Amino acid sequence: MTASDADFVGEIPDLYDRLLVPMIFQGAADLLADAVARIGPDDVLETAAGTGALTRAMVDRMPRARITATDLNPPMLERARQRIGDASPVQFQQASALALPFPDDSFDVVACQFGVMFFPDRIAGHREARRVLRPGGHLAFNVWDDIEHNEIAHVVEAALIAVVPDPALSFMSRTPHGYADPDLIRSDVESAGFTTLSFDPVESVSRTTAEEAALVFCQGTPLRGVIEKQGGMTPVQATAIATEALLARYGPGPIEGSIRSYQIMASAHA
Ligand SMILES: C[S@@+](CC[C@H](N)C(=O)[O-])C[C@H]1O[C@@H](n2cnc3c(N)ncnc32)[C@H](O)[C@@H]1O
Repeated sequence: MTASDADFVGEIPDLYDRLLVPMIFQGAADLLADAVARIGPDDVLETAAGTGALTRAMVDRMPRARITATDLNPPMLERARQRIGDASPVQFQQASALALPFPDDSFDVVACQFGVMFFPDRIAGHREARRVLRPGGHLAFNVWDDIEHNEIAHVVEAALIAVVPDPALSFMSRTPHGYADPDLIRSDVESAGFTTLSFDPVESVSRTTAEEAALVFCQGTPLRGVIEKQGGMTPVQATAIATEALLARYGPGPIEGSIRSYQIMASAHA
């Protein structure tokens, strides 16, 4: 991971929320929220909540739960706050998942959708979740499988690297798809004080167009900042390269690409 891999700032939150959430995050949010709701928690902490895809899915299923949504980047959280509205009981608070501003034993569930891959130290993140959970509480999270199982992201990244062969551009395989080894994740979670209860692959399809997918991956994720720093192309040029590659692969009009992730549930040791 490089320093800018977690920079969800500037124009990113808007593009991310409008285009990427419906494309690849909503289905996983519904599944993860279903799993959290089955636990029947009173107090839920969400880390790396982003623009609130999982937050909204949890509010829909658990209107009486006390939900605290946190994220490292205030612009993402501000977008979540706007989407959910002031009438919602959700508390929003800026926080790194590695230094949570809450006392020990505060929550029944810590939930995190596609966030742990961005933590500079994943075991420290799991330990921090364990600290704020009550004994017997649950950690519920998901991660993307490796990029080869996530077609559209793979086509975009391969197209950019074919033009500028700099490993700096492999943001997507390095970070969002860089924590995909089930044995490693299980071992990290268990070394942080949890028992793994379930570890389920989730297969789905993202529906989009070449133009929209290229725009959001190149300009609505931290890949944008990576491209700007790398300097071999601009985000607009990268978008054109990615569009061309996606059109070559799928043709014009609506496209579908397979996506694959893992959903993990673990319980905190007493
Ligand atoms: C791929 S987004 C997922 C956002 C949201 N959970 C969703 O499903 O749309 C990753 C999120 O992790 C956040 N993030 C990155 N590093 C973090 C950290 N150390 N602590 C808390 N959040 C972090 C980013 O700001 C971003 O909102």
